[in-house]
Amino acid sequence: MNPTLSLPVNERERGSLTDTFGRRIDHIRISVTSACDLRCVYCRPSAKAGHEENSDNLSDTQRVEFIRYLYDRHGLSQVRLTGGEPLLYPQLSTLIAKIRRACPDLTLAVTTNGRLLSRFARDLRRAGLDRLNVSLDSLDGDCYRRMTGGSLKTVIAGLDAADDAGFPPPKINTVVLRDLNDAEVTRMAEWAIARGSEIRFLEAMPIGAAAEFNKAHFVAAAELRRRLAAEFVLSALATPPGATATRFRAISGALDGIIGTIAPVSEPFCSSCRRIRLTADGHLFPCLLDAFSVDMRPAWQRGCLDSVEVAERIDSAVRSKQKHGSVQPVQMIQLGG
Ligand code: 5AD
Ligand code: SF4
Repeated sequence: MNPTLSLPVNERERGSLTDTFGRRIDHIRISVTSACDLRCVYCRPSAKAGHEENSDNLSDTQRVEFIRYLYDRHGLSQVRLTGGEPLLYPQLSTLIAKIRRACPDLTLAVTTNGRLLSRFARDLRRAGLDRLNVSLDSLDGDCYRRMTGGSLKTVIAGLDAADDAGFPPPKINTVVLRDLNDAEVTRMAEWAIARGSEIRFLEAMPIGAAAEFNKAHFVAAAELRRRLAAEFVLSALATPPGATATRFRAISGALDGIIGTIAPVSEPFCSSCRRIRLTADGHLFPCLLDAFSVDMRPAWQRGCLDSVEVAERIDSAVRSKQKHGSVQPVQMIQLGG
């Protein structure tokens, strides 16, 4: 049994949440919708992903109560809202404003495909959002469309809107696939650094319907770094606790910025993982690469968050966090990256 559960509530306050391998859990990724308006080749959501939400989803009141619980009891430090595509969630700005009011010093981030940023960047910033991560897989319009089904121009306009709204330069996430965008990494890095953004090149994980495709087009981070090193002088930066990216200062002529690689396949970062994930319908997943989850919905009894139920369910999820992830049959679109 987790010793924190046997303590009276007041002595548990802000006690850290630690798993059986000594990893402190203080980040949560919350998927607010499993709908998406893109069809990325490495994600392959089913056609119904664009349809209506299921009615079993958590309400925003429940999400905020749960975040507040983790923040008060366990020193939660970061919430990242994901999807599907979180900007398709109609109440996203309102939810952010509620979280911000409930937890003033929490870092609040959103991972988005950028398509709707031109419309919503200003509202999100006003609501108290700190940071954006934007997925962008190619700077070639045709390749971008082949990889995602969407329009590159729309995403670039979204990034410009984020700058105008006062966001710090968004981090750019690029999933690298052989024979699709792998020849572009240097050009993309130059472009991102010139915009003041940190670009992170991701290895494609073999998850869900795209698993075999991702294996066939896999490019390892070490190969990417060799390509980047032909253009940039790279010097390794310290990895902050819980970081997923290996980061480098990258200098080439007048360009001086940061590039990262995220290598869940060839260089897993499980030992420094600090995250748990909550799906839109309230399942708490201790690991992206593990099918195990705990349904949090019964933690609300007659409309109120029950402190014994919630503690037991969080404990059961965190206790089940394996040393390393392995396979995930659940789709990325539900788990939110
Ligand atoms: N492997 C690696 N990254 C993925 N993403 C989605 N599916 C995969 C995958 N199979 C990334 C997206 C986005 C974030 C939400 O997750 O590119 O940056
Ligand atoms: Fe949508 Fe993200 Fe999947 Fe692309 S990776 S289809 S943007 S959920």
